[in-house]
Amino acid sequence: MGEEVFYITTPIYYPNDVPHIGHAYTTVAVDLVARYHRLCGEEVFFLTGTDEHGQKLQRAAEAEGKDPQSFVDAMEPRWREVWERLGITYDDYIRTTQPRHEEVVRALLQRVYDNGQNDIYLGTFEGLYCVACEAYYTEDDLSAAGNCPIHDRPVEAMAQQNYFFRLSAYRDRLLEHYEKHPEVVRPETRLNEVLSLVRGGLQDFSISRTSFDWGFRLPWDPKHVCYVWFDALANYLTGAGYSADPERFARTWPADIHFTAKDILRFHAVYWPAMLMAAGLEPARCLFAHGFLTVGGDKMSKTNATGIHPFQLLDHFGVDAYRYYFMREIQFGADGSFSWESMARRYKADLSDGLGNLASRVLAMLAKSFGGVVPEPAAAGLEGDLPGTVEAAVARYQECMAGAEITDALTAVWDIVARTNKYLVEKEPWALAKDPGNRDEVASILYASAEVLRILTLLTYPAMPGAAERLWEQLGVPGCLTEQRIPEAACWGGLAPGTATTKGEALFPRLDEGR
Ligand code: MSP
Repeated sequence: MGEEVFYITTPIYYPNDVPHIGHAYTTVAVDLVARYHRLCGEEVFFLTGTDEHGQKLQRAAEAEGKDPQSFVDAMEPRWREVWERLGITYDDYIRTTQPRHEEVVRALLQRVYDNGQNDIYLGTFEGLYCVACEAYYTEDDLSAAGNCPIHDRPVEAMAQQNYFFRLSAYRDRLLEHYEKHPEVVRPETRLNEVLSLVRGGLQDFSISRTSFDWGFRLPWDPKHVCYVWFDALANYLTGAGYSADPERFARTWPADIHFTAKDILRFHAVYWPAMLMAAGLEPARCLFAHGFLTVGGDKMSKTNATGIHPFQLLDHFGVDAYRYYFMREIQFGADGSFSWESMARRYKADLSDGLGNLASRVLAMLAKSFGGVVPEPAAAGLEGDLPGTVEAAVARYQECMAGAEITDALTAVWDIVARTNKYLVEKEPWALAKDPGNRDEVASILYASAEVLRILTLLTYPAMPGAAERLWEQLGVPGCLTEQRIPEAACWGGLAPGTATTKGEALFPRLDEGR
C-alpha cells in the first residue's frame, strides 16, 4: 500500500495569528525535501494547511469581535501569502473547516466507534487544560510555577462529560510498533522520549467537548464537538483521499514522513498511530520531530517581540538566502537560535563569497577567454581531484537527503564549493590565460569548474530554487532544470563543450549591513 507516492506533510498551523519564522522553518524544510524527491523522479504529494477549529481559535475570534468562520477566513490568506513568497510547492492545502475534511473526520470517528473494541466510550473528565496547547496536563506536567510546560501560562481546571479514546489499550501495540520500526520516530532522541512516555503507561484522552461548539459534531451524539486534535490529525487522511477517493488513498497512504517540531511529538508519535490502528489503518512510516528555533536564545512570542514574521527577513536577504540560512545554520533535528548577525554572516561567507563568487569567477573567465562558450577539456588531468570530490559529495548528499538530514546534505554541497574555490586559487587560470600558449590548460580548468557549477545547480535547487534556476540559465545548459534527474544528471562529464554561457547578474549581491 502507498508505495507509489512519496507523501510528506507539515503540521497544519493554527491561524489564530500570522506565521513566524518557526512555522516557516518546518514548511521550508518540507518543501526542500519535496523538491529533492521530485528531482529524483518520484511522484511527490506534499500537504500543508491550517487547523481552524478548537477553543483557541474561538477565543481569538471573540477577542476580535468576529465569528470564528469569518475570523479564520480572514487569517488563512496571511499564511498562504507567506508560503507563496517562500516558494513553497505544496500539492494540496487543507483547511479543517472544509466540508471534505468534515466527511473524513466523521468517517474516522464512526469507524473507530464501531470497531467492536469499545475504543470510544463516554466518561467524566476532570483536568487542567491549557487552551494554547489545546491539551490537558496533570499536576506533574506543570512548571515549577504551576503553569503550562510549553506556554508558561496558567492552566484551567475543567470537568466535563466527554467521549474518550482508549489510548491505554494501545500501549503494547505501540511499543511493538516502535520496536519493529525504530525509524518511525526520528531523530533517535525523540524515539527515546516516546518510548519512556509509552512505557510509563498511557492515559485515555477525551475526544469531545461540550463546553464550546466550534468544531465538528460527533456523528452519534451531536451535543458533543470533536476535540481539535482528533480533528486536526485526521487532515493527513483527508489529504490522501481517505473515504472520498479509495484509489488515490491506496496509492498515497501511509504518509512517508510527517514533519513537526518536538512540541507536538506526543500527538504525532503516540495518539496518531494509536488512532490509525483503532481505525484499522497503517500508521505513517516516519515522524521527524525537529528542534525548536529561538531568537537570541528566547522562545518566540509576541509579548517579548521575538515573533519575527518571515517578511522582515525576506525583504532584506531574499528568498534563496532565507531558505538556505535556516536549513544550514540550525542542525536539522536539534534546537537552534536565529540572529540577524549569523544570517548576515552566512549570507556573506557561504553565498556571496562562496557559491556566488565561484559562479561569477568561472563565468567571467569563460566570457573573457572563450567568448562564453564552454571549451573542450583539451589538456588531460587538470581537473585534479574535482570529479572524485564531487562524486563523493553527491553520494553523501543523496544519503543525507534520503534520511531528511538536511543540514548535513547542504554541508556536503558546500564542501564542493569550498574545494572548487580553492582549486581555482591553486590553478590560477587567470594568470595562465595571460599566455596564449596555455590555452589548453585554461580550457581544461574552466571546463572542470563549469562542470562543477552545473552539478552544484542541481544540488542547490531544493534549498535555493530561484538562485539555481538563474545559474542554470547563465550556464546555458539545454532543457529545464526541474526535468533533470538525480543521480544521473549529477554525474561528472554531463556539460557539453560548445554550450553558450552568459555572465549575468550576481547570484548573491553584497548587502548593506543595516536593516
Ligand atoms: N495545529 C497544531 C498542529 C496540528 S498537526 C495535525 C499546532 N499548530 S501550531 O501553529 O502551533 O504549529 C506548531 C508547529 O509549528 C511546530 O510543530 C513546528 O512545526 C512549527 N513551529 C512553531 N514554532 C516553532 C519554533 N519556534 N521552532 C520550530 N518550529 C516551530 O501545533
